[in-house]
Amino acid sequence: MSRQFVVLPTPAAVDEAAADRIVGAARNAIRRRGRFRLALSGGSTPPAIYALLSAPPRVGSVDWSRVEFFWADERAVPPDHPDSNFGLARALLLERVPGVMPGAIHRMPADATDRDAAANRYQAELAHSFGVAPDASRPPRLDLVWLGMGRDGHTASLFPGSTALAEGRRWVVASWAPLPAAWRMTFTLPLINAARAVLVVATGTDKATALRSVRSGSRALPAGRVRARSTLWLVDARAAGEGADAA
Ligand code: 6PG
Repeated sequence: MSRQFVVLPTPAAVDEAAADRIVGAARNAIRRRGRFRLALSGGSTPPAIYALLSAPPRVGSVDWSRVEFFWADERAVPPDHPDSNFGLARALLLERVPGVMPGAIHRMPADATDRDAAANRYQAELAHSFGVAPDASRPPRLDLVWLGMGRDGHTASLFPGSTALAEGRRWVVASWAPLPAAWRMTFTLPLINAARAVLVVATGTDKATALRSVRSGSRALPAGRVRARSTLWLVDARAAGEGADAA
């Protein structure tokens, strides 16, 4: 397992590096295995990276017909709701890159009435995509899980002290988000940490305290417990406490 922290001067530089990392992972997975299985997150960071991925030169660098899209977490809202992580990706990426196969878009059904049953269904959908049993002891190995980190150190929808964070067997569970208080659905740490690679993008001064904890090696915060085979953190100077206003 390796964790690498790369500090870049600005959020724009982080976005460029993240887009390049995603393209590189996609090309490598497609070359080696014929498919790229990617999990997306929500928040305010992805839109700028979606824009880079869906524009030249990057948009032409990936065979999007070979990409399987999953979501690392989702809010309990319908796809066309402004808070939907799926809706955000559909509008800013899936509808802007060529060749995405409809069967390769695996929306996380966090808005289902019975969230627990829906989480089990999503786990089964993941298992089917990988050709493994939904109760396999080892989670499937996504090619890349792309995460963010909240100021409280949450990642995906794994919040500090939550039962979802403590889940050690299931791959997908319902999750209660404290702020804003609402139900969600999320990958668990076993599934995230089984990935071939994890990319965590964090920018802004408000992430500095949590990032300092994560970089110290502490596992106190959820994001500090992300330890996949290869975990790359792309952060800007302000999140790293190196910015001009870090004094
Ligand atoms: C979500 C995200 C969440 C996000 C962090 C960071 O659904 O809200 O998955 O985990 O990644 O809150 O969000 P920013 O991108 O706004 O920093």
